[in-house]
Amino acid sequence: MGLPASIVRPGLFKEKTDIFYKDVISGLKSVPKRLNSKYFYDAKGDQIFQEIMNCPEYYPTRCEMEIFSKKTAVLGDALIEGGGAFDLIELGAGDATKSSYLLKYLLDQKADFTYLPIDISENVISYLKNTLPVKLPGLKVNGLNGEYFDMLKHAERLSNRRKVVLFLGSNIGNMQLDEALNFCRLLREHLSEGDMVLMGFDLKKNPKTILAAYNDKDGITRRFNLNLLERINRELNADFHLSKFDHYPTYDTETGACRSYLISLEDQEVTIGQKEHIRFQKDEYIYMEISQKFTVLQAEQIAANAGFKTVNCIFDSKKWFLDAIWLAE
Ligand code: AVJ
Repeated sequence: MGLPASIVRPGLFKEKTDIFYKDVISGLKSVPKRLNSKYFYDAKGDQIFQEIMNCPEYYPTRCEMEIFSKKTAVLGDALIEGGGAFDLIELGAGDATKSSYLLKYLLDQKADFTYLPIDISENVISYLKNTLPVKLPGLKVNGLNGEYFDMLKHAERLSNRRKVVLFLGSNIGNMQLDEALNFCRLLREHLSEGDMVLMGFDLKKNPKTILAAYNDKDGITRRFNLNLLERINRELNADFHLSKFDHYPTYDTETGACRSYLISLEDQEVTIGQKEHIRFQKDEYIYMEISQKFTVLQAEQIAANAGFKTVNCIFDSKKWFLDAIWLAE
């Protein structure tokens, strides 16, 4: 017999908070200090990320939007040509604005598919569950809230249809190159021969253009980073003073690594929960996020090394962004 929801839910919630707490403490006790950028996305972080996507400097969303709105048929036909009914699984679905173009096209083509958006943000999943069936009548949606591979396993158990995985927005860039390759290998292990992947890569370009995208003049990206400290204050009962940290974005032209840091502006001590005290020296940094930029060749090498064949490369008109279509071999 199941427990009443009111008893079950606090337990689940606490479990999530525990993992968050452990990750935060171990990250801030590491040398150098770091926080995991996946924790940016609470309700407030989702909202700030929306603002980032709308700001003039942040070009990746507009570039990929151009691909999804103008080359919808190229994308859609490649996925349909993979053959037969499929599950369209989107990792980190966000507000699904880009994928909506593809979903509409697939519905118009009478493709037999179910859309399974996966997101770490419960906020995002409940939003998609409520809005998509209204926006796209006839769409079969099954939203999954959780970590990518946990939810991918869950999706495997739900059906044995062909899988098409969307990983858009250059979310792959939130990993270092070696981690990105491992991620794609793990993704391949969760798939079968004939399954497909549609992966978005933000490409190397003028370094000033890239740096500006992470250093917008209105300070939205700054707020996005600082919001994680605020989340830690709120959810883990900590006492970060946001005004004592500064946002520092960097871009390395040679490696294509765009990294952001928060810099402690003074010697200070922060208390987290009942018993953890973290010292910061003046000018000490917390490594917050990597947004790796790729060459087309690197994207193809990642595919090949992870067990995929690149079947299509689709670019925006400026060639700033790549959506690659891969076939699992
Ligand atoms: C959502 C991970 C693709 O790295 O460009 C935007 C997040 N961080 N501005 C990125 C982000 C700062 C974004 N991704």
